[in-house]
Amino acid sequence: MVQRETWATRTGFILAAVGSAVGLGNIWRFPFVTGEGGGSAFLLVYLLFVALIGFPAILAEFVVGRKTERNPVGALMELGGNTWKYVGGVFIVTGFVILSYYSVVAGWFIRYFLEGFRGSYGTLLAGHESAAAEAGVPAAAVLFGELSTGLDAFVFHTLFMAVTIGVVALGIRRGIELAVKVMVPAILILLVGMALWAFTLPDAGAGYEYYLSPEFGVIADNWATLLPAAAGQAFFTLSLGMGVMITYASYLGEDRNLTKDGLTIIGFDTGIAFLTGLVVFPVFFAAGITEPGEGGAGAIFVSMTEAFATIGGGHILGLLFFGTVAIAALSSAISLLEVVTAYVIDEKGVERWKAALGMGGIIYLLGVPVTYDLIFLDLLDGFADGILLVFGALMLVILVGWITPKIAIEELEKGIGNLGGLGTAWIWAIRVPILIVLVVTLYLGVEGY
Ligand code: PFF
Ligand code: NA
Repeated sequence: MVQRETWATRTGFILAAVGSAVGLGNIWRFPFVTGEGGGSAFLLVYLLFVALIGFPAILAEFVVGRKTERNPVGALMELGGNTWKYVGGVFIVTGFVILSYYSVVAGWFIRYFLEGFRGSYGTLLAGHESAAAEAGVPAAAVLFGELSTGLDAFVFHTLFMAVTIGVVALGIRRGIELAVKVMVPAILILLVGMALWAFTLPDAGAGYEYYLSPEFGVIADNWATLLPAAAGQAFFTLSLGMGVMITYASYLGEDRNLTKDGLTIIGFDTGIAFLTGLVVFPVFFAAGITEPGEGGAGAIFVSMTEAFATIGGGHILGLLFFGTVAIAALSSAISLLEVVTAYVIDEKGVERWKAALGMGGIIYLLGVPVTYDLIFLDLLDGFADGILLVFGALMLVILVGWITPKIAIEELEKGIGNLGGLGTAWIWAIRVPILIVLVVTLYLGVEGY
């Protein structure tokens, strides 16, 4: 039996977890949910959910992983008994499904990134004007229609999965840890740079205002849909319910202060999501787009290319933006493939590179239909994100909160010391409020599917 791998450094673990958390959820989704959900009023609800739900829940995944030093299937089996391996299996399936379409979307970002090197986005759109006029849609929408399916999408989905598989095949230290040490600081620096640039754009103020001015009325009128949306976003953005944090914590080896690590990771994820809004909204308003994005997979591509086509230096800002998102998506994809790979290594005794290649290959094939028709994106996303992920998170909450609370508190206290009443408070947060939120979100997800 070979020795199970571990992180080389504490920073390596934190960066890997931050790399997983920061992804399309922050950059592709967050600014829009916020803009549509009443600006900073939504932001407040979201922050509340991240703190009250995301923080206790990430700790639950951490203790399960560190205690068992196993992948989600092995971990749940060890803690809950044999039948829990099926629940663990749900985590693996969730990872499979989410990664299959996530890779296609990430491929679009690479495609748009490369477009920035060929010249201005304006020239690119001009070439699509006549087709656009005929169809009665913006040129950027015609472009998105062209690039989002077919050969382009297929090629970049292939490329993205190949890189993801390559990194995971190299292992925890030589692959993932090295990669995130470069990628995560790069994402941060690029976003700060872009936010500063965006600050100098004309009409930046109007963008900030749209983003940050609280409209409590929107929340009051739509709370029944907004609250679950904020809860779902809190889980998705922290990579919860996919087994990622279980798996990453299983490589910790020694006992550290998990609450500190959890807070650091949540701080970075939230900060980066917030920062992205400071880039996206000024860019829109500088380009005269005052009602950015109705939602939907293509919204950010359509409105961002239109904006980059209009503002000065747009193709540089554009390639930086699309490139940054692609890097963020890669560090997230790596974490999901690691979940599935760890399962095959731990439970089936397969060598790492074979496990990564085999599982990555199947995930890749599952994503191919999405490159033919985006209907598959909605189907897979609604199922994985709306149902599977919430179900997995709910089961974990039941296990940690109701079945093994003593073990969980003991494990959390390692590396911290006696938590006293705080440990009990943590368990009760998991037992009741989080459980209720997950049940409601799951109900709405199933109903809406
Ligand atoms: N936390 C990630 C995000 O916000 O984008 C969620 C995620 C999605 C992680 C897909 C990994 C992944 F492959
Ligand atoms: Na995120």
